[in-house]
Amino acid sequence: MTPLHVTRTLPEDATDAALRADVRRGLTATPKTLPPKWFYDARGSELFDRITELPEYYPTRAEREILLARADEIAAASRAHTLVELGSGSSEKTRHLIDALTDLRVYVPVDVSESALVQAGQALIAERPGLTVHALIADFTAGLTLPQTPGPRLLAFLGGTIGNLLPAERTAFLASVRRLLSPGDALLLGTDLVKDERTLVRAYDDAAGVTADFDKNVLAVVNRELGADFDPDAFDHVALWDAENEWIEMRLRSRTAQTVKVPVLDLAVHFAAGEELRTEVSAKFRRDGVTAELTAAGLEPAHWWTDRAKRFALSLSTAR
Ligand SMILES: C[S@@+](CC[C@H](N)C(=O)[O-])C[C@H]1O[C@@H](n2cnc3c(N)ncnc32)[C@H](O)[C@@H]1O
Repeated sequence: MTPLHVTRTLPEDATDAALRADVRRGLTATPKTLPPKWFYDARGSELFDRITELPEYYPTRAEREILLARADEIAAASRAHTLVELGSGSSEKTRHLIDALTDLRVYVPVDVSESALVQAGQALIAERPGLTVHALIADFTAGLTLPQTPGPRLLAFLGGTIGNLLPAERTAFLASVRRLLSPGDALLLGTDLVKDERTLVRAYDDAAGVTADFDKNVLAVVNRELGADFDPDAFDHVALWDAENEWIEMRLRSRTAQTVKVPVLDLAVHFAAGEELRTEVSAKFRRDGVTAELTAAGLEPAHWWTDRAKRFALSLSTAR
């Protein structure tokens, strides 16, 4: 069994500094916001994995259906020797791709969640002897540098995670992805599609309350890391569809007027009763929009696949 390589691309205090900056900026803004990447400590990653198994959360099942049907086509089109995956989490669905990529030598999962990377990486090296796994603890929005590995490379970004970026962030992100690719490399992108409001809202507000726990986990992260005194029970989880922007927003609504202290930042944050803190945007896409964004980033869309119910799409683009 080859050993698991884990590389932290940023010093630990850089993560602390980024959290402090995001919390200060987000909690002093109007309306208040926090970026979704801070959901994912060990508990957040575990809760996300539980979300993927919920009856209401169709994206994982829809994307898996496409991967199972198309993995051989993706492998034939990319002939990848290296598979890089951004926001890899548990790498669960990725196994279908790894199995189909017969020339694959190196898998590079990239995630902010160290626990998810180590767990997934250890399982993979045990299951796939001969596969080198080089995990990167890194923020994929912050100037990623990839290890030197054999090409061609297939860069996968699954789960619809691209929808968590706001439009301007997406433009910058796709341009940075293009810079990571050489001619002949490819991008496999998972995008959740626009559909009826009820299905969308239920996917982010499940009956068992797992998504509510996931949403509130960001408060636990800020409490632990910055000594804040958020009471998660003093907030309600809210999911709503913004039809104009075609995105779902997750928010935490303050049940009462309250003041939360963040001692490390010397900050007291006042919430009015009913005031909402936006914790996640999850954009939903249409084919034309995805094609336009990929093309603008200098990528050439080559394939578009959906599940049978047309809920989710995987697209494969090549670097020109
Ligand atoms: C919605 S989950 C998707 C997980 C998995 N790819 C799937 O399809 O089930 C998003 C993943 O991206 C990671 N993530 C979120 N923001 C990130 C960032 N800025 N940089 C690196 N990883 C990030 C999270 O830790 C989490 O594992």
